[in-house]
Amino acid sequence: MNNQFKEDVLAGLSSSPKTLPSKYFYNEIGDDLFVKIMHSSEYYLTRAELEIFQQQSQQIIENFGIDKESYFELIELGAGDGLKTKELLKELCKQNCNFAYLPVDISQNALDKLEESLTHELPSIKVKTKQGDYFEVLQSLKETPHPKVVLFLGSNIGNLSDELAEEFIYKLGSNLKTNDKLLLGVDLMKSASIIIPAYSDKEGYTRDFNLNLLTRINDELGGQFDVKNFTHLAEYDEKTGVAKSFLVSTKEQRVSIDSLGMEFTFGKDEKIHTEISRKYNDEVLNKIIANTDFRIFAKLTDSKNYFANYILRRG
Ligand code: AVJ
Repeated sequence: MNNQFKEDVLAGLSSSPKTLPSKYFYNEIGDDLFVKIMHSSEYYLTRAELEIFQQQSQQIIENFGIDKESYFELIELGAGDGLKTKELLKELCKQNCNFAYLPVDISQNALDKLEESLTHELPSIKVKTKQGDYFEVLQSLKETPHPKVVLFLGSNIGNLSDELAEEFIYKLGSNLKTNDKLLLGVDLMKSASIIIPAYSDKEGYTRDFNLNLLTRINDELGGQFDVKNFTHLAEYDEKTGVAKSFLVSTKEQRVSIDSLGMEFTFGKDEKIHTEISRKYNDEVLNKIIANTDFRIFAKLTDSKNYFANYILRRG
């Protein structure tokens, strides 16, 4: 892990323009900051998706297309605190559906917390937590004869380039069968005046989230970054629907990273690209899934049309 981090930092800071991968946002500090981002008034994504689950869980379940009696597996990739999913689980219980909930996460700690809260809130549900890599877990479930619904929420797919998103969905499909479903939560294309504040909240949680990458390099790789010499920048291109986050060097500076035995030069206003947060519409999504086994089967949106939960059917 640490070696992978080292390699990725070396590759990213050696390339032009410089980059750092967004997956390294999520250590303990980053997890806490992301919770603060989700609660910020500007970050509408989580609230919009929650509204869909609160108001349209019945429609979601109808579109799973599974009859009441037959057993199915509801698999969630990157379950987190399960806030939105619990709305769906409540409705599934109410309708006496016959299913098991299989949350998948890299973090055993997150899974333990989720399982514990479910035993209190929804004790009748059959929960089987699965720790590990998404695809290893899916591979291990592939042989079971049961219909499957896979949840991938929160616009987490938006951190991938379209090419990688296609590869990801294709691989999901290769572990599923005809008529299995993928419930994909994605942020929709909209005015920059709504998106930019969501990625540059006034409390500065997103800035700190981004700067935490440099702190991690300092703590884990012997980096000598002075985080005061970098600022956070969010950009959004309304035409392409791509939001990007950057760290910007506020002055010309050299920074060494001890474990790499190297020094990197940053020009004044030089940007390090740290994240893409892709926004979607039907056309974008259809292009991404065109060469996979999935087709759009249903689409549910919140009242402001900010966010969508697409239900994709594997053919
Ligand atoms: C967790 C990937 C959906 O891109 O909106 C929030 C992460 N980055 N603020 C997103 C994030 C900056 C978030 N995702």
